[in-house]
Amino acid sequence: MVSSLLTLPSTFSRLNLVQKSSIFIPFTFKAFSLLKFLKQPRLRPFNYPLLCFPSSLNSPAAHFSTSRRPVSSKSFDDDFVVLGIETSCDDTAAAIVRGNGEILSQVVSSQADLLARYGGVAPKMAEEAHSQVIDQVVQDALDKASLTERELSAVAVTIGPGLSLCLRVGVQKARRVAGSFNLPIISVHHMEAHALVARLIEKELQFPFLALLISGGHNLLVLAHDLGHYTQLGTTIDDAIGEAFDKTAKWLGLDMRKSGGPAVEQLAQEGDAESVRFSIPMKQHKDCNFSYAGLKTQVKLAIASRNIDAKVPLSCASSLDRSSRADIAASFQRVAVLHLEERCERAVEWALKIEPSIKHLVVSGGVASNQYVRARLDQVVQKYSLQLVCPPPNLCTDNGVMIAWTGIENFRVGRYDPPPPANDPDDFMYDLRPRWPLGEEYAKGRSDARSLRRARVHPSLTSLILDWSKFNVVMILQL
Ligand code: KG4
Ligand code: ZN
Repeated sequence: MVSSLLTLPSTFSRLNLVQKSSIFIPFTFKAFSLLKFLKQPRLRPFNYPLLCFPSSLNSPAAHFSTSRRPVSSKSFDDDFVVLGIETSCDDTAAAIVRGNGEILSQVVSSQADLLARYGGVAPKMAEEAHSQVIDQVVQDALDKASLTERELSAVAVTIGPGLSLCLRVGVQKARRVAGSFNLPIISVHHMEAHALVARLIEKELQFPFLALLISGGHNLLVLAHDLGHYTQLGTTIDDAIGEAFDKTAKWLGLDMRKSGGPAVEQLAQEGDAESVRFSIPMKQHKDCNFSYAGLKTQVKLAIASRNIDAKVPLSCASSLDRSSRADIAASFQRVAVLHLEERCERAVEWALKIEPSIKHLVVSGGVASNQYVRARLDQVVQKYSLQLVCPPPNLCTDNGVMIAWTGIENFRVGRYDPPPPANDPDDFMYDLRPRWPLGEEYAKGRSDARSLRRARVHPSLTSLILDWSKFNVVMILQL
């Protein structure tokens, strides 16, 4: 009985958290595959934490109520080496990270030139671009780390949220590597990875903490209770802040080759942030949700009223034209960030009521590389005696390190899959989750501004993990 207990929880990774009715068959099958996989001599030296009980098995309640760091051992930290693959949007990224958090390599192939040409991400072209470079990006990550696939311990890959066509390229590659070299595979939630990478750089960062995740497609305020357990305090009802930065850059005729955000941030330094009176979104809604569609429209109107021609690049603009564009950039940035500040203050107050022990606000995602955002949010947290944790800019924008690290965190508590077959059949259905919430919505935080789109939304990561824990309890009681 003990040996079956040991193998139970790890047979369910987040990749295979299927509806309860269909759980039992894959479970039994996978339990055997996993046993086979663990018996292989080359895997033994890693001292898998699986062989210590994942905490959810010992005490399912404790799994979500402590602020402990997951089980780890020196041998695990030093010997465990994970390849992380990220292709959810427009960057093809891979990295290799050790269990102790040492980054052995990091490679990002950007599609910024496509972004500049089309003014946004075109899924089909993004997929093609990923397919063209994915093998090279992974190879470069291995070369930079001076490793071969044989020396890896596991592969972690983003399965959502993101563009299906793009996610598929990364998942296919991850399964090919894992299958060919008999490696376990860990499915990663992109937004969880943005939050957890903060724990790689700030070793003191314990659960629970508050996180503001700001990127091109997401604007999330989440309370992180524990690994895989998040409460969503707020989200955007339309566009994310990164999208507003990108469109502002495009309409101002800025160079988008490093994406729009950095271009707006740079030009804003020359402008007068008080000169254009944009209104702050959703002032009358006393919740933690966001809206950037209205601010985008205000920017568009301001640009039109000043006769700014986006076809004239900034480098060719007259000095009057340039300063007019800089004023808009600065005024937009100020109001976009005021909206963040206002929502964060409320979120901190809510979070302190739910989890009085929180000490940190994590700010991550591409927009968190903006220095003005960091400085303003630092002032917010100081009012509450909290500490701001922002990963360095290259770990805020999409990267493979955050995926590898999130893989490591999840592996430690037994959430992974055994190696896939060396070749997937042609009709293999990949488990991709383009619309996949991170946490359960906080009831008080529901937006009364406009109902959020809910079509084809996958059950949240948190609800799946909670079901997984409950299922473990039932299985243990039955054994
Ligand atoms: O997290 P990320 O790399 O990809 C997504 O998951 O979306 O975020 C990309 C977004 C883009 O909208 C980009 O313009 C924005 O992050 N961004 C910035 C800055 N650097 C990147 N926005 C404002 N200021 C920046 N310095
Ligand atoms: Zn991202």
